[in-house]
Amino acid sequence: MRTHTKQPKIPVTELEHSAFCKPGDELPAKTLLEEKAVNVQWQDIPIEYLHCSVEELDARIGRAKQELGDSVTILGHHYQREEVIKYTDFQGDSFLLSQKAARLPNADYIIFCGVHFMAETACILCESHQKVILPNITAGCSMADMAPMDDVDDAWEDLQDVLADHGGIVPVTYMNSIASIKALCGRTGGAVCTSSNAVAVMDWALNQSRRVLFLPDQHLGRNTGLELGLSTDDMVVWNPFKHLGGNTEEQLRGAKLILWQGHCAVHKRFSVKQIEMARERYPDITVLVHPECTMETVQEADLVGSTEFIRKTINEAPQGSKWAVGTEISLVNRLALENPNKVVFCLDPVVCPCSTMYRIHPAYLLWVLEGLLNGKVINQVTVPDDIRQDAQIALERMLALS
Ligand code: 13P
Ligand code: SF4
Repeated sequence: MRTHTKQPKIPVTELEHSAFCKPGDELPAKTLLEEKAVNVQWQDIPIEYLHCSVEELDARIGRAKQELGDSVTILGHHYQREEVIKYTDFQGDSFLLSQKAARLPNADYIIFCGVHFMAETACILCESHQKVILPNITAGCSMADMAPMDDVDDAWEDLQDVLADHGGIVPVTYMNSIASIKALCGRTGGAVCTSSNAVAVMDWALNQSRRVLFLPDQHLGRNTGLELGLSTDDMVVWNPFKHLGGNTEEQLRGAKLILWQGHCAVHKRFSVKQIEMARERYPDITVLVHPECTMETVQEADLVGSTEFIRKTINEAPQGSKWAVGTEISLVNRLALENPNKVVFCLDPVVCPCSTMYRIHPAYLLWVLEGLLNGKVINQVTVPDDIRQDAQIALERMLALS
């Protein structure tokens, strides 16, 4: 057996996740120099960009984008800040953006305003002549960081030892994971999923094998399993810091769903108490949450879905309707702005953006755009060929199931 009990290691990104949290409801843009006072890892950038005012950044991004024309396509996840999202050619959830990245034959450069695993996925799905750029290379994802490859390899080996003669296991990884986990899924008959197709992918996986290893978000895995009719008794959690994930061989053999012990720091904040408070304030409110929230929160909510589902549902809702939303604040604030005749607010009274998404400050976008104008590709994200090929298999299985 390869897994053993060890000291839990908390990813730096998880420790930094509340860095930008504050009471109130606004996130005014500041110069990068001022924002750098917040104690998180920031990528170094030439000094001239640190001092640019928000207005100057805005004007220069507009000019650079225009000059670069069709050679550049900018993709933006819904959690990006307003000052960045306004320059994106396409916005979406991680599924839509991965589909988009696979269908941009004219762009030489794809600038991904999102986080590292999204840029990696774009790099796997786009054509080989295209280059994918992440404006700030420190924009990771604390959930993805909870499943490092060494731990996953050890877990997979031990699961083979325990389960190979007992109906086997198939891995499903959430998009929010490193490329080498996607490659493991591709090599071993598994698939990738996103929050918008997790039910279809897990359903497929449960038909391939007696059980599924779901990485790295235990909450999305649990919520999806419940939606498919499994009970919590059918599930065990795999703690990567313990021998056999903290389970006995019998528990692993009895499980239909083995949930990697990862979570999203942003979505873990939403609670049943917050939902009760929202309903007290507005008895006719509809509560809409992302499936990365805990099981208790998801079960208490009225609706659950991906960021694109949340966006569409609220934008298409009747005037006067009221929405309490359990997802990242930049998206909620945007929906509130776009729907002035509806009540839209975040369940969490504390403004707490995803601290890694938030690291795509407009100064970084300008830096990579002006780099391209000067013939320099800054922050290209690449995936080694062998990993890329296997990961593509797992991603294509997902695309075929969606
Ligand atoms: P979506 O795929 O719903 O956009 O979610 C991505 C994500 O990182 C949510 O935390
Ligand atoms: Fe990762 Fe959570 Fe941020 Fe999404 S919101 S990118 S899951 S840390």
